[in-house]
Amino acid sequence: MTQHPSIVVVGSVNLDLVATVSRLPIAGETVSGAKLARYPGGKGANQALAARRLGADVYLCACTGDDAAADEALALLRADGVDLSRCIVDHDSATGVALIAVAASGENQIVVAPGANRKFSPERLGLPVADALICQLEVPVETIAAAASQFSGFFCLNLAPAAEVPAEILRRADLIVMNESEAAYVGDAINGCENMIAITYGAKGAVLKLKGETIAKAAPPPAKAIDTTGAGDTFTAALTVGLLEGMSPGAALEFACAAGALATTRPGAQPALPWRRELV
Ligand code: RIB
Repeated sequence: MTQHPSIVVVGSVNLDLVATVSRLPIAGETVSGAKLARYPGGKGANQALAARRLGADVYLCACTGDDAAADEALALLRADGVDLSRCIVDHDSATGVALIAVAASGENQIVVAPGANRKFSPERLGLPVADALICQLEVPVETIAAAASQFSGFFCLNLAPAAEVPAEILRRADLIVMNESEAAYVGDAINGCENMIAITYGAKGAVLKLKGETIAKAAPPPAKAIDTTGAGDTFTAALTVGLLEGMSPGAALEFACAAGALATTRPGAQPALPWRRELV
């Protein structure tokens, strides 16, 4: 049990360009009348900030371009005290950008131009010692593999966005987090995994499994969702923080569902991430 766990996040940094619109377009359609906003984002950066706001000491290992978008994308991490000393700059790339459409229902569509995130190669990784490592799949899988093999503590892998992952990384993870569609993509590849697996079902809640058996189920409190961007990142960070703090699997899952639900009630990814004081 650790009161202020230390967490290293290896992952992406993006600047999110968000168009809030009445409804999402279908392929080939133009929907006008949107309101445009810019927010710091990227799954790695979001999970780092979420863990920090929930009380952890957090390092972010990431790669940005040498541009104004990097300053904008890192601003809230800096303001909230995430350690960015392991973040590197690729001088030949632009900082990652995500184009996000958010509908009145809160649902979104995201297209990512990864830019410098793609240049975050294993040899550029400088891992600090920490209680836990959290990774997602918006940086090269070789870098995730290197982080997973170099790190000796608790390893949480968020399988987002859905992508092929070598079996040894899946086996190394102590906790795998994914949503319904990511779980469908992974399919049988996680059969036989001995680790904890959390699957989220949006407003319906989440389940936690160990060795294939369901050990906990939780539903989020009622929330008026206006933007679901970053909810999965919040859930991933909160579940990791809860387990590191020594919460029971059921309590940690409830904590993560409540944190994820709160994140949907405010616009943007990082501005919406909840603080610990809002959850107790
Ligand atoms: O998980 C949400 C994030 O996905 C956004 O912030 C966007 O940058 C994309 O990476």
